[in-house]
Amino acid sequence: MIGGLGGVGALLCQHLLQRFGARLTVVGRGPADAGGPRAQTLAYLTAQAGSRAGASIEYRQADATDPAALTAVVGDTAFDAVFALLGEGTIVEQIDALMAGATEDDREALRRAANRIRLSHSLDAALAAHPAPVVVFSSINGFFGGAGFAHYAGACAYQAAHALRSDRGDLCLDWGMWQGVGLAAARRPS
Ligand SMILES: NC(=O)c1ccc[n+]([C@@H]2O[C@H](COP(=O)([O-])OP(=O)(O)OC[C@H]3O[C@@H](n4cnc5c(N)ncnc54)[C@H](OP(=O)(O)O)[C@@H]3O)[C@@H](O)[C@H]2O)c1
Repeated sequence: MIGGLGGVGALLCQHLLQRFGARLTVVGRGPADAGGPRAQTLAYLTAQAGSRAGASIEYRQADATDPAALTAVVGDTAFDAVFALLGEGTIVEQIDALMAGATEDDREALRRAANRIRLSHSLDAALAAHPAPVVVFSSINGFFGGAGFAHYAGACAYQAAHALRSDRGDLCLDWGMWQGVGLAAARRPS
């Protein structure tokens, strides 16, 4: 579960642990052992896993857009499926940037969009030896566009197209907004 300690990811982890007794490997860039929000989320999910027979969760710190790093996480493990929930920033931040006069040259928005695209290819590399279907959490912006969200929308459209042409049976889910969760939250834990 790439991004499994994020807003939507944590809800999905909880569901998979409790409902199916899943054995999860969660990937994120930041440390989860420093008492911050990631550590709190991981502690909560670990407790959830502990109350369901067979369930388990482990956290691996890695940049999933880096093919070598993601390949190292996958290793020789044959996963049943991979969930890709990579996200950066918030809708509020993006609207603030727009109001402050951001243009299509907005470097941070471009970098974030590029990372979504990089992840598609990083997954191809990491799963080459052990193919598993990828469920991509993307956005309806990829279909409808969105004023001020061109970079995000373009990257989401790319994710959908990439999933369609995959021979692993990938699925791209074009979500609308989750109320107050993850990138749709008004404020993020610091
Ligand atoms: N929330 C919504 O309303 C909504 C609506 C439509 C679509 N979506 C999509 O659903 C997905 C999850 O969204 P969310 O709201 O849960 O976002 P979120 O709370 O920001 O979580 C995103 C997660 O991605 C991880 N991440 C970011 N870059 C990474 C990288 N390079 N390598 C590994 N992990 C990385 C982050 O962990 P680290 O910071 O530790 O790396 C974080 O845990 C996103 O793709 C988003 O576009 C969300």
